[in-house]
Amino acid sequence: MDAREFRQLGHHIVDLLSEYFEHIEEKPVFPDVEPQLLTELFAEPLPQAPSPAEKVLAELEEKLLPYCTHVGHPGYMGLITPSPTPVGVIADFLCSALNQNIGAYTIGPAAVAMERRTVRWLTDLVGYGQEAGGNLTSGGMMANFIGLKLARDWASRDRAQQDGLQERWAVYASEERHVSVDKAVDAIGLGRTALRALPTDSEFRVRLDALESAIAEDRRRGVRPMCIVGIFGTTNTGAVDPIRELRIIADREGMWLHADAAYGGGMLLSNESPMCNRGLELADSITIDPHKWFYAPLDAGAVLVKDERRLTASFGMKPSYLADELDHARERYQYYVHGFEQSRRFRGLKVWMSFKRYGARQIGEWIDNNVRQARHLYSMVVSHPAFEAASKPPMSAICIRYRGANLDGERSKQLHAHVVRRIEQSGKFWISTTELKGKTWFRINPVNFRTRIEHMEQLLRLLEKECRSCLQTARFATDESPATGTSQG
Ligand SMILES: Cc1ncc(COP(=O)(O)O)c(C=O)c1O
Repeated sequence: MDAREFRQLGHHIVDLLSEYFEHIEEKPVFPDVEPQLLTELFAEPLPQAPSPAEKVLAELEEKLLPYCTHVGHPGYMGLITPSPTPVGVIADFLCSALNQNIGAYTIGPAAVAMERRTVRWLTDLVGYGQEAGGNLTSGGMMANFIGLKLARDWASRDRAQQDGLQERWAVYASEERHVSVDKAVDAIGLGRTALRALPTDSEFRVRLDALESAIAEDRRRGVRPMCIVGIFGTTNTGAVDPIRELRIIADREGMWLHADAAYGGGMLLSNESPMCNRGLELADSITIDPHKWFYAPLDAGAVLVKDERRLTASFGMKPSYLADELDHARERYQYYVHGFEQSRRFRGLKVWMSFKRYGARQIGEWIDNNVRQARHLYSMVVSHPAFEAASKPPMSAICIRYRGANLDGERSKQLHAHVVRRIEQSGKFWISTTELKGKTWFRINPVNFRTRIEHMEQLLRLLEKECRSCLQTARFATDESPATGTSQG
């Protein structure tokens, strides 16, 4: 591909994406297509001969673009994936072109400096001091894994890196934790049964009495407490665990405290109710994902560590083929020595460019809008006879359920699943379902700068219409009761 073709293709793509963003609201959020058809669309052997770029592009316009989930559509309020900032999109283009490899200083000196500055902005934001550090990761899953690995190594006095685990240990987190915590406990060699899933209170925060009992029981059985994972914004309802109290317990018991702020970290940017006073800075390590509520395009997660030296203690190996003999003054920061991953794309660029272009204040306004939208839905639901809300949303995640029919648990689950499918087919919104305290709920979560208050009103109207219409079908017909009925489900 020569420079002329590259330029032409690039201009074409930028025109196409400008048009895409401009008209995104007119598209169906989710494609009306069977998975089998998509498999068939791409079923071809490895191409041996070249094709002109226009032909490849035409194929994308035919096979990819019509069948995307348009997460930038204002009606996308589903699993936590934001409307990406357009400047972040441009940044990713630039990032791929430069192909700096952040793992080693020699493959991207300025990129390493820029990423370190971006991490510093994040450590400042959470309230860490100058000794803090971190890495941008593929996402919260990887960041939680690294946080748990740091906990293990610290708790074993840095023996586990060499010898593996010699004793029985336990990790504590609430029943509302993200599944990445379970996977991390497995991956660091404890096994999933070493995770104590603690009950939550009526606001879905971890119950401290349950934590204390679990620790006491473990001690009695000769199991050593290793780490508490405090959640700063649960996936379902945005609940914030009492981090200050968790710190006190962790100190008393000699435990590492990891905070999962993958989603909730966005609240630190809020102009109206910045959650900077919840003790997040007391955690030893923190997961915070710019690709969630900072509206960065995937992927850009982050793990932050209060004492950067712990990263080196956990991951600091230097194979000879990576030695940088020109670094006489030891000034070249090598991410591979201070983190798990080696080859890494230059994720810092899109986060850096988004902060520069919009400023923290503008991003905070989007966050405040999303919180306002969730609270508006909540206020409509509390005065609605046929719906109930799980809790008043502290952030933008809200769970609501239909209770306008006397359905048992299983049938209520079916109803919510049916309705979510219909909502998907409507092309207007995309939401999911979840389980909370034994009941099924609609999970609605705007992390989207295009969503407006009116979308919440339209969504609730549509949910009501679809719930009623589903109840008319043969499967549910006999159970329908007046809209004021209470649920058993
Ligand atoms: C609280 C929390 N932690 C961790 C994760 C995992 O993050 P990722 O999907 O970026 O790996 C999520 C994802 O939604 C989450 O909500």
